[in-house]
Amino acid sequence: MTAETRLPTGTDLLAEIDRLRKERNAVILAHYYQKPEIQDLADFVGDSLQLSQMAAETDADVICFSGVKFMAETAKILSPDKIVVLPDMDAGCSLEDSCPPEKFKAFREAHPDHIALTYINCSTEVKALSDIIVTSSSAETILAQIPPEQKIIFGPDRHLGGYLSRKFNRDMLLWPGVCIVHEAFSETELLKLKAQHPDAPIAAHPECPPSIVDHADYVGSTSGILQFAKTFPGQTLIVATEPHIIHQMEKALPEKTFIGAPGADGNCSCNVCPYMALNTLEKIYTCLRDLEPRIEIEEGLRIQAKKSLDAMLTMASGTVGQGDLGKV
Ligand code: 13P
Ligand code: SF4
Repeated sequence: MTAETRLPTGTDLLAEIDRLRKERNAVILAHYYQKPEIQDLADFVGDSLQLSQMAAETDADVICFSGVKFMAETAKILSPDKIVVLPDMDAGCSLEDSCPPEKFKAFREAHPDHIALTYINCSTEVKALSDIIVTSSSAETILAQIPPEQKIIFGPDRHLGGYLSRKFNRDMLLWPGVCIVHEAFSETELLKLKAQHPDAPIAAHPECPPSIVDHADYVGSTSGILQFAKTFPGQTLIVATEPHIIHQMEKALPEKTFIGAPGADGNCSCNVCPYMALNTLEKIYTCLRDLEPRIEIEEGLRIQAKKSLDAMLTMASGTVGQGDLGKV
């Protein structure tokens, strides 16, 4: 029997989550790709960099991380004395899966004159093998600080790496991973949609392939896309990232229209992240109640992984977060 099926009938989940949050001195952190009802109850909603910064700064005893496993592990690496719970331990990431630590280690060893600039969407083991972690909102600021003669391995997202490489005119050795969600957008369907809304700009996440990013008027992280949505002068925006972020746009700008970019089937259902979707209100309730499933990391590994995360937090310290709720 799962924890969810043991819920007493008639449980008022929102009231119970609120009670447990206070009782446990817990903070609920949620990514923009979470379901609207989760975004609305979270203490803070943000992108990967903002959530890392929040996890490092909060004085809560418990962090309930409504996102995916690499995000909750990041919180534990930065705040080892806190209890970090993840509503569903199966909430992984295709980018993390694409980069097994032993293969990444061999790749690094084959290129000893390169530093490893690594996207935060990876395992703790891969973070421990890396020099500097980046998120999509901090990558450009950090790359600009690395001397031009320094050779770089970038993993595991080849699309983000390729985008940075083109923008900075800088060769990097790219690990061949992709996000299955952003990979699923269709250029043909996007152009059909654009033809129906010729005045609507396109905002795309850099995890999208060049066939999508090349049509975009704005390319940036989830918080960057949200900021663009709040400032673009038009009436309609086409959004090429996981569609749950549109919830924040509709809340902030109810008079404007936000359209999710289509997948190959002509609608955006294939662009819902199946890992993020595993989190539910029921699982948030049970993990606050049971303080399980809990993230645990062996101390030597944690200390090693923290070095590359600390490097990111220091180098990205001028990067301003644009999270919506600042209650932590
Ligand atoms: P950001 O929120 O940092 O842009 O990352 C997007 C993403 O895919 C998280 O898994
Ligand atoms: Fe991973 Fe892509 Fe899901 Fe983000 S959206 S968690 S990168 S699979």
